[in-house]
Amino acid sequence: MKHYPVMLPEVLAALGPRRGETYLDGTFGNGGYSQAMLEAAECRLIALDQDPGVRSRVEELSQNPRFRFIETPFSAMDQVLGGATVDAVVLDIGVSSMQIDQGERGFSFMRAGPLDMRMSQSGPSASDAINILSEGDLSRIFKVYGEEKQATRIARLIIRARDEAAITTTDGLAEIIERGVGRRGKIHPATRVFQALRIFINDELGELYRGLLAAEKILNPGGRLIVVTFHSLEDRIVKKFLRIRSERPASGSRYMPVTQEAAFTPVFELRSRSAVLPSEREVSENPRSRSAKLRVGIRTDLQDLPSIEDLRPRAPVVTDYRWAS
Ligand SMILES: C[S@@+](CC[C@H](N)C(=O)[O-])C[C@H]1O[C@@H](n2cnc3c(N)ncnc32)[C@H](O)[C@@H]1O
Repeated sequence: MKHYPVMLPEVLAALGPRRGETYLDGTFGNGGYSQAMLEAAECRLIALDQDPGVRSRVEELSQNPRFRFIETPFSAMDQVLGGATVDAVVLDIGVSSMQIDQGERGFSFMRAGPLDMRMSQSGPSASDAINILSEGDLSRIFKVYGEEKQATRIARLIIRARDEAAITTTDGLAEIIERGVGRRGKIHPATRVFQALRIFINDELGELYRGLLAAEKILNPGGRLIVVTFHSLEDRIVKKFLRIRSERPASGSRYMPVTQEAAFTPVFELRSRSAVLPSEREVSENPRSRSAKLRVGIRTDLQDLPSIEDLRPRAPVVTDYRWAS
């Protein structure tokens, strides 16, 4: 399937490409944004991706001396830049259509393949999670990351099935779920479980939260933070992060002085409080874009950043699961 860079005109409008600036594309994927940014201005571009599968596309763009690629999760962007700063950070969160389309990567229940789902192609796979984690942990993962109403029932079905034989394939897992809960409506009953497993295996919400904190450290004053997300769990983190980082604390009073932690100047300015959505035309041409939301923050003058703990978004993150049964 052809890969369409989602909301590309809106991303470029938010970027306002300028000669001599340096940009960071934290989710290189098929290089759609990277290529468009390199073409839009005589800028320098640093691209990151944690998936070794993007290497052939990286090679094509590497002909351009203004392009540089680093294979790393974007949460490490501040570390890999070694003190350098940039004029924009662009993130297009989630999986690419190439990853979904390759059955051997195990992201989709529509493609037979090993139950893998690891973007970085290292660490525990979705099959490890399905075959090792407890019923309670699986149920919580499906509930929190997939917002799956039948989480407990599906976790129980999986435990029963894996007692018979290990569950190692995408179609095998999809079949267990479909056989157990039946099919109602258009959406396959395994959809939410697959989404939940992908988010869990790649720690997608943790990556996003740490990526936002890393981005604000490397952005120059006036630098643009541009984030495209695809579901509400992700958008909630970006929205809350930008709101907290752009709010000026109340001035306080004699009776309720502003505390030390709250007395910082905003780190970002917002062009708009609401998210930008894809055009109707884009949604009709590329249905995958229908749930996209774009948010933009402009970095204000550099200053001491307030402590991270105070600003931790209240994202539902499942962290205390047990790998040993
Ligand atoms: C939706 S695609 C990006 C598509 C890209 N904007 C384009 O136009 O071709 C997301 C890409 O980000 C990568 N990715 C997702 N989370 C990441 C992370 N935490 N660190 C680095 N890369 C990540 C995925 O491997 C995937 O290749």
